Amino acid sequence: MKEFWDQRYAQEAMAYGESPNVFFREQLNSLAPGRILLPAEGEGRNAIYAATLGWEVWAYDWSEVARAKALNYASKQGVTIEYHLGSLDELPQRTSFFDAIALIYVHFPDHIRQRQMRLLQSWLKPNGRLILEGFSKKHPQYQALNPLVGGPKNADQLYDLDDLLSDFDQCHSLLAVSQEIELQEGFCHCGTAHVVRLHLEKL
Ligand SMILES: C[S@@+](CC[C@H](N)C(=O)[O-])C[C@H]1O[C@@H](n2cnc3c(N)ncnc32)[C@H](O)[C@@H]1O
Repeated sequence: MKEFWDQRYAQEAMAYGESPNVFFREQLNSLAPGRILLPAEGEGRNAIYAATLGWEVWAYDWSEVARAKALNYASKQGVTIEYHLGSLDELPQRTSFFDAIALIYVHFPDHIRQRQMRLLQSWLKPNGRLILEGFSKKHPQYQALNPLVGGPKNADQLYDLDDLLSDFDQCHSLLAVSQEIELQEGFCHCGTAHVVRLHLEKL
């Protein structure tokens, strides 16, 4: 699977664009900078945006190609980010460490998702924020009409709002919706999509 992602990132152009995800940008703009974690952050568009706002940024991804592109982009933008190569289980434990964690198009099969979300939740400080955007269980009908919109092919990697809210059982919801949106992110997310969007606060 890592090889799939290394190949996706092999072109010089950024697969999901240079600009941050719109929902991430809007939610982050409402917060005072602190320490943020971006899991499975790919080429770094969100991480670097956060760093330009003054956040202390931590990120990880298992794709070496993605990490190299992200660090190159960070240096062009004149910011620094802490970017680990690997998966969540390979990182040192960081209980109550982050002011915010943002999962932008991070998709795992159900059994892995539940464990990872619970672990990530424990890494948030009290009152820390969890921001998430990802494809919903309704997305396959949009993908069938327009494959350029992207998204996992595997239905058990798509999000159900209620499942996610029960994963994050130590948070309360500031915003939780499942809706149709227009995506224009690089060459991998182009068209109408159906997504879940969350902004939660840890109790
Ligand atoms: C759709 S991309 C999203 C990248 C980034 N969050 C963004 O919005 O631009 C999904 C990313 O998840 C990463 N990924 C998938 N499974 C992973 C795992 N088990 N550990 C670390 N990274 C993973 C891939 O390498 C890829 O960069």
